[in-house]
Amino acid sequence: MCFSEQCMDLNDMITNLREALEITPDNDKLRAHLAQTLLTAGQNQEATEQYKQVLRSSPRDAKSKLGLAKAFAALKQWSAAIVILEELNQGTAEHEVMLLYSRTLLKEGSFGKAMDVYQQMLERWPDRPDAELDEHFRVSGFEPDNDDEDDDDFDGPPGDLRASDLIVTSNVTFSDVGGMASVKDEIGMKIIQPLLHPDLYKAYGKKIGGGILLYGPPGCGKTHMAKATAGEIKATFISVGISDILDAWLGKSERNMHRVFEVARQNKPCVVFIDEIDALGANRSHLRNSAGSHVINQFLTEMDGIDADNEGLLIIGATNMPWHIDPAFRRPGRFDRTIFVPPPDVEGRESILGIMLKDKPTKDIDLHAIARKTEHFSGADLNAVIDIAIEAKLREAMKTGIPEPLISKDLVKAAGMHKATTREWFTTARNYALYANESGLYDDILKYTK
Ligand SMILES: Nc1ncnc2c1ncn2[C@@H]1O[C@H](COP(=O)(O)OP(=O)(O)O)[C@@H](O)[C@H]1O
Ligand SMILES: [Mg+2]
Repeated sequence: MCFSEQCMDLNDMITNLREALEITPDNDKLRAHLAQTLLTAGQNQEATEQYKQVLRSSPRDAKSKLGLAKAFAALKQWSAAIVILEELNQGTAEHEVMLLYSRTLLKEGSFGKAMDVYQQMLERWPDRPDAELDEHFRVSGFEPDNDDEDDDDFDGPPGDLRASDLIVTSNVTFSDVGGMASVKDEIGMKIIQPLLHPDLYKAYGKKIGGGILLYGPPGCGKTHMAKATAGEIKATFISVGISDILDAWLGKSERNMHRVFEVARQNKPCVVFIDEIDALGANRSHLRNSAGSHVINQFLTEMDGIDADNEGLLIIGATNMPWHIDPAFRRPGRFDRTIFVPPPDVEGRESILGIMLKDKPTKDIDLHAIARKTEHFSGADLNAVIDIAIEAKLREAMKTGIPEPLISKDLVKAAGMHKATTREWFTTARNYALYANESGLYDDILKYTK
């Protein structure tokens, strides 16, 4: 007899297989072949019957189990298929099993589980994605930033964020931060003093930690301050940007967010710095609407610490665009202190210049004079001024062969060549402060721009 498809069409083959089985009804191999052929021919009901019969005598026949699951799936009997696939998935599952399992879960409506299975599948077979599932689970329109050098080619779902990826060390302290007295004081009261005097805080029933939101023009020391806080206290420091948390995978962003707080709670006392926190709002258009709000809700839940104890966590958020921040973020118990970080005043600039020039070759520098010539300059601008001055010095030294130290004149000249970068921010900020200042949130900006 010939059972190959070249010899006959499927129906003939089915007839022949049936006849053969009548002679040898205990031949499971033959019956499995019949079931498979029925499945191929789309006779799914009949296929399930045959597969079931095979499995009654050969209950470990994984191939027939998969066949039965396929037949159930073809009949849209999702839960029957899922029961089988779940079992198959517990062994060393094959690509085919995981793929069908994920698809079936999705059809049945188990979205989260379906995505988990698909993610596991991609972790094992990064180069074998599925277009249909991709479409469901990858957030449409999301542009992952691919500037990470150490990213592998695979842009499938990464595993959970590891504690070692989140916890960073910092070698700067408050003494490396010029000016910013009010921020230093606020951070001091919320985390440094409580750690030094825990009994005193307990006596007043005051919590250790909380939330502080820093906002202001770029380059004025928000990130620098957060780093210095980490170095100042010998506590764990976690520093993340929203772009580290947002993920192209539905549900993954929330998990990342949860993970950040989970690691923080396991490593108390802990300072969590979340940079570019406005991106939670601004990036919403990149995410499916519901996905964006899920991340925000997850964030708020973590801040509230309803299911978890946030005692001993200091959350510092930073943004250049406070007007993009959901007002819900500023409710009590969340970021209940919102602090404006303006460009440094003349004393601040003097002290920042002192810090920045500490390790550079200088001679008779009049810091105050340079500070007076750099109104509106941010810390980053002052850094740029020093860079310009040093470059000029280098050029000179290469010509003359003599390296000369920096003098005041060099820096004043360099300051004249650099434009403060904070002005533009104030133009925008002033509009918000004038026309959207219901809660008096931007009074500080108005005060500053007077
Ligand atoms: N108050 C400051 N004291 C010392 N350095 C500062 C200060 N503010 C800014 N800088 C310098 O400017 C750079 C940019 O500041 P950064 O903290 O990144 O600004 P922001 O986060 O507010 O945009 C820092 O790396 C630091 O070298
Ligand atoms: Mg910053």
